[in-house]
Amino acid sequence: MNKTIAIYPGTFDPITIGHLDIIERASSIYEKVYVTVGINPNKSTFFSVEDRLDFILKSVAHLDNVFVEYNDGLIIEFAKRKNAKIMIRGLRAVTDFEYELQIASANMYLDRNIETIFMMTRSEYSFISSSNVKEMAFAGADISGLVPFSVNEYFKVHKRR
Ligand code: COA
Repeated sequence: MNKTIAIYPGTFDPITIGHLDIIERASSIYEKVYVTVGINPNKSTFFSVEDRLDFILKSVAHLDNVFVEYNDGLIIEFAKRKNAKIMIRGLRAVTDFEYELQIASANMYLDRNIETIFMMTRSEYSFISSSNVKEMAFAGADISGLVPFSVNEYFKVHKRR
């Protein structure tokens, strides 16, 4: 396992500036970061996998050690295929902790050699979620301060009337 390869998995429906901040910080620490669009069977998504990948690709174009891929199986298997030792997850508030502990523990059961590393979300981004940016955008609010350019452009073009 290469200690300097990390993966950052999520549903990213869509990517927000909170996610982007984690990606930028991870890219300054690790040699390679794979942002992985995964499937959470408990969520139905608004955006297609292609759209989610496209938004992320456009948002990370300035980071040459960041790669974006889709994975439809267990995230731990993806990590192994990429020879990654580290799985990054963002923590916003104490309410995220229980859910994240469950995922990290399940992943540790599946492969104890892959470590989950938590990065604290910047406090100014701690209220942001993919769900609440969609809710605000669908209601016509300006979300330009909450999402990368590519996502904001989508909502500008597809404004609900
Ligand atoms: N900035 C903004 N939002 C953040 C954030 C940050 N820094 N950190 C977390 N979030 C939000 C996300 O926006 C998302 O919000 P939403 O619920 O409104 O959509 C929420 O926190 C958590 O979603 P996300 O980080 O995308 O993870 P997830 O739980 O939806 O999915 C997978 C994670 C896809 C990686 C996971 O389900 C998976 O790996 N699935 C494959 C099966 C597997 O291997 N499971 C693990 C063993 S059980």
